[in-house]
Amino acid sequence: MEKFGEIIYTPEVEEEVAISKRETHTPKIEVPEKVKVGEPFQVRVYIEEHPNTVQHSFRWIEVYFREDGRDFNPIFVARADLSPEISEQEVTFRMTLRKSGVIYALAYCNLHGVWENRMRVEVE
Ligand SMILES: [Fe+2]
Repeated sequence: MEKFGEIIYTPEVEEEVAISKRETHTPKIEVPEKVKVGEPFQVRVYIEEHPNTVQHSFRWIEVYFREDGRDFNPIFVARADLSPEISEQEVTFRMTLRKSGVIYALAYCNLHGVWENRMRVEVE
């Protein structure tokens, strides 16, 4: 029986079936590489070139943060539930950090599972 983390598709996925879906399912993250401590910045997560119909669409996007040196990670940041056809498969929000770490985005396609991507952010 696989652990939950093992059934999430990541950018390193090697299974044939997943590779064919990687480009259209891996969430893209737009975030500054460097931010200032305590200063809000914008995070945009989106999925490109994927159907957005009642039969097939991304239904939610979640974002977590793994803070350097923290005893327990990750920290939940935000979640957006998406309705097919009317909601674009994209979310933008602002966050504020005190320490550097990695932002993780998870996105769920109702036919093709949970997809992950990540970006490191340095706090200075
Ligand atoms: Fe899909």
